[in-house]
Amino acid sequence: MVGFGYWGTNIARNLDKLAGPRWRYLVDPVPERRLAAAELYPRVRTTDDLDEALDDDEVAGILIATPAPSHAALTRRVLDAGKHVFVEKPLAMSVADAVTLAETADRNGLVLMVGHTFEYVPAVERMREYIRSGEIGEPLHLHSQRLNLGRIQSDLHSFWSIGPHDVSIANYLLGTEPRWVAAQGGRYLHDGVEDVVFVTVGYPGDVVAHMHVSWLDPAKTRRTTVVGTRRMLVYDDLLPGARLTVFDKGAEPLEPDRHGVRRYRLRDEATHVPELSTTEPLARELAHFLDCVRTGTRPRTDGWNGARVVAVLEAADASLRAGGATVSVPPIEVPPIAPPRFGYPQPDLTPAIP
Ligand SMILES: NC(=O)c1ccc[n+]([C@@H]2O[C@H](COP(=O)([O-])OP(=O)(O)OC[C@H]3O[C@@H](n4cnc5c(N)ncnc54)[C@H](O)[C@@H]3O)[C@@H](O)[C@H]2O)c1
Repeated sequence: MVGFGYWGTNIARNLDKLAGPRWRYLVDPVPERRLAAAELYPRVRTTDDLDEALDDDEVAGILIATPAPSHAALTRRVLDAGKHVFVEKPLAMSVADAVTLAETADRNGLVLMVGHTFEYVPAVERMREYIRSGEIGEPLHLHSQRLNLGRIQSDLHSFWSIGPHDVSIANYLLGTEPRWVAAQGGRYLHDGVEDVVFVTVGYPGDVVAHMHVSWLDPAKTRRTTVVGTRRMLVYDDLLPGARLTVFDKGAEPLEPDRHGVRRYRLRDEATHVPELSTTEPLARELAHFLDCVRTGTRPRTDGWNGARVVAVLEAADASLRAGGATVSVPPIEVPPIAPPRFGYPQPDLTPAIP
């Protein structure tokens, strides 16, 4: 495991439970971080040298939880050493790097998984089922808020930092590739770094998604709303036990009146709160990575999935620099997958997650 900072400690806690003594190394350049890890996990060897782990033939995979600008180079080193890799979001800081990494992993038959944690949240998985089964009718639009006071970053704006979650959720729920992005934001704390960003993403079929992210906000909010033609869904990550609510609400068209004006009947019926697994999403996510490494299966959030998220982040960046102009999102062309060393099954055969 590489990087034992804020998020790395959460990964380590789960990795220790899932992998036990098979977790061999903890790499971090900061002595205090290594000391903190050594106290908690005395059997794990701590080092500042990633090559120690890369040179060990018994190491099959590496997990990376370092700051985003280091992801592409570290992932590259791990893949070049012939090892499987889990890397935190975002996969890279450019589409070009993300695509190269996805291609390299496929070419070498290696698992490359991106830490899009929210795709392993049971409420989000259930939302996708409701959308795919037609339960909510046609999806019309969605919006999300990811707000809090903190954790303030000084190098990356808030959409690079926390926006990957909302983009990955929207891409996953809709199952289509975004077409365009328009982003506006405000910089208040550090020069050149947007603390608050408002992004609109256009998907095929006139579906729009609006994402509001900020680390300068009074109320912690983590909510995703999906409005369909028949039902509406609200996922509130801060409501234990009621994280997903299905609203049987909608606007049903009536016959036009005598002036030809279409009228609507507003429907407001029962709400439903489905029962969902309470397993920690990060535990499910990491168990999936270990399963994929063991079985040579393509992860659900593979390098191509990561590249599709980076494509939106990069386009949002360009839009911010252009004062909110609409910027196209390049389609991510997934090449036919070469016969891999590990014999990847098709994506719908990914291992079941508890
Ligand atoms: N999936 C999620 O829900 C989630 C949540 C928070 C953060 N993250 C991601 O986790 C990653 C880390 O974020 P954080 O908040 O823990 O950052 P952090 O700054 O708290 O920790 C980063 C750690 O990596 C170490 N590090 C830096 N460069 C390194 C290198 N080259 N090799 C080895 N170690 C190195 C640092 O010493 C530090 O201990 C980011 O990519 C972030 O996007 C994901």
